[in-house]
Amino acid sequence: MKYMKERYPQAMFLRQDGEGGGIYHPSVLRTLEQITEVATSILKDADSGLIVFSGCGTSGRLAFMTARTFNKKLESVGKHGCFKYLIAGKDKALFTSQEAPEDDPICGKEMLQEICMNQRKVLFIGITCGLSAPYVAGQLDYCLKNLDVFTPVLLGFNPTNMARNNKIEKWNKTFSDVVSELQKAVSDGKAFILNPVVGPEPITGSSRMKSGSATKILLETIFVGAYTSSQNLTKSKWNPQNHLDIYRAICERVYSVDFSKKISHLIKLGAECLQKNGSIYYLGLDSIGIVGMIDASECPPTYSATLDDVRGFIEGGYTCFGNKEGDLKHLGKHFHISLEDFKTDIAPHLGEKDLVIILSTEGNLSQASFVQSLSCHKAVLAFKDCDIPQEKFDVVIRAQIDNDINLGSVVKDVVDGFRNMYCEMFTKWVCNAVTTGAHVMKGKVYQNSMVDLKVSNNKLYYRSVGIIQKFSNESRDESERYLLKSIYNTDNLSESHCSKTVADHIDVATPLERVVPRAMLAAILKCPISEAEKRLIQEPVIRTVISQTLNSVK
Ligand code: F6P
Repeated sequence: MKYMKERYPQAMFLRQDGEGGGIYHPSVLRTLEQITEVATSILKDADSGLIVFSGCGTSGRLAFMTARTFNKKLESVGKHGCFKYLIAGKDKALFTSQEAPEDDPICGKEMLQEICMNQRKVLFIGITCGLSAPYVAGQLDYCLKNLDVFTPVLLGFNPTNMARNNKIEKWNKTFSDVVSELQKAVSDGKAFILNPVVGPEPITGSSRMKSGSATKILLETIFVGAYTSSQNLTKSKWNPQNHLDIYRAICERVYSVDFSKKISHLIKLGAECLQKNGSIYYLGLDSIGIVGMIDASECPPTYSATLDDVRGFIEGGYTCFGNKEGDLKHLGKHFHISLEDFKTDIAPHLGEKDLVIILSTEGNLSQASFVQSLSCHKAVLAFKDCDIPQEKFDVVIRAQIDNDINLGSVVKDVVDGFRNMYCEMFTKWVCNAVTTGAHVMKGKVYQNSMVDLKVSNNKLYYRSVGIIQKFSNESRDESERYLLKSIYNTDNLSESHCSKTVADHIDVATPLERVVPRAMLAAILKCPISEAEKRLIQEPVIRTVISQTLNSVK
C-alpha cells in the first residue's frame, strides 16, 4: 500500500528525510535558495548574462516552457529576455520525440557553446530526470571546464550514486564520472546539484510524470523567487517552501474526490476512443495549450502510440508558441499546430470515436462555441467561472485557482502575477492522467512497465533489455540476444549482427514496431521470433498477449 501511495503525484510533497530527501527537505530548500541568489544577480542586470535550461525529451520541452514564461515576464516590464533553452534534436523535438540526439554529448556541448558565445556569466541548468542523458553530460562537462563563466546546476531525481554509469559512445566519460566532477565543484560552491527524491514513477521510466512535474515546480520556484527579488517586489526574503505549498494545494485539489471522478470519466472516454482507433485532441490557449501539446508528444515514445493518437493544437499556432526556429509546418502534418489547422485538417473528419478536450486559460473560452458543434466526444478544462453549457459537453472540469486553491497568504501578492503557471500545473496533472490512464486501459502497459516502448536510444535500448530480462527470467546477455533477434527479425544472429555497435542496433530498431513485445514473447516461450510475431498478430492487445503467454508457461 505504501508502495502504491508513493506512486501518486502527491507523494512528491512528502517530507522525506535522509540523504537527498524530498522537495521539502532542508538541504533541498537550501539549494533552491542558493540557486535563486545566483539567478537574481543575473536578472538584476539582464543584459549581463544568460540563464540556460537544457534537456532531452520532456526535460527539454519543460526547458522551453520555462524560458518562454520568464522571458515574457521580463519583456512585460520592458526588460531583455535573458532565458534560453536547448533541447536535443532542436525544435523538432518540441513536438515529436527525437531520441538519437540525446546520446550525443558533443552535440550538447556545441549547442551550448553556440548560444553562450561571448557571455560573461551563465547560469546553466541541465535537466535529466534519471541523471542519465549524454547530451546534458556533455554540457555539464563543458561548464565544469569553464567555471569562470558558468555556474552549472544538475537537476534530476535520482540519488547521485545512481547516476548512469554506462559507457557513452564516442566519449571518454560516463554520466556518473561527470557527476563526480560536479560534486567537487559543488563543495567549492561553484555548482549545484538539485536532486530531491520524488518517489517512483507510476509507470516505470515514464519520467514525464512525477519527475516532469517536479522539474516544472522546482524551476518555477527558483525563478519566481529570482524575478520577484530582482524587481524588489517583496521586502521579505524569498521562501521557497511557501511557493512549493501552492503546488501541493493544487495537487491535492486535482486529486480531490470531486475532481478525481471527473478525471476518471475523461480517462474512460479517452480509452474508449483509443480502443476504437480514434484520437484525443487538445485545443488550447497560450501556455495551457502548450501543456497539452507536450503531453501529446510523449505518447509515441512511451506507448508506441501513433502520432495521430493524441495531438495538441494551440490558438495562434507558431506565433503564439514562440519557439526559436519558428514555423515548422513544412516538416509535415504533425507539425501543423494551430487551431486553424485543426479546423481544416481534423474537424471535418471527427466522429464518435474521437475526443476533443478544450484546455482554457483563466481569461478565455473562445473555442467553446466552435467545439460544441462538433460531432464527437467533448470535454472542457476551464479556469474561470464562465458559462459553459454543461449539456453540450461529456465532461466539464472547472477550477478556480483563487477559490478552489488557496494560493497561501504569505506569497499571494507576489504570485498573483504568475497565476497562469499554476493553471498549467493543474492542466499537466489532468492531461498526464488522461493519456496515461487511457493507454493503460488500451492495454499498452503490463503491470507497471511500458512494455511497448520504442528502442530509439541507448537508455531505451538497455531499458528494453531489462524489461525482457524481468519477465523472461533469462540472463541479461540472453535477454539482449532476444532483443537483437527481434530487431533483425532472425533466430540466428550472425557475426556481423553481433559486431555492430549499440548505436547501429538503435538505427535499425527505431522505425520498427513492437520490437520489445516480440522479444519478450520469444524469450518467455523460448520460441522463434516468427512464432512470437504470430501471437502478436492474433492478439494485438499487448497486456493480454503477455499475460496469456506468462500464464501458459507457469
Ligand atoms: O529517451 C527518451 C526519454 O525517456 C523521454 O521520454 C524523456 O522525456 C527523456 O528521455 C528525458 O529523460 P531524462 O530527463 O532522464 O534525461
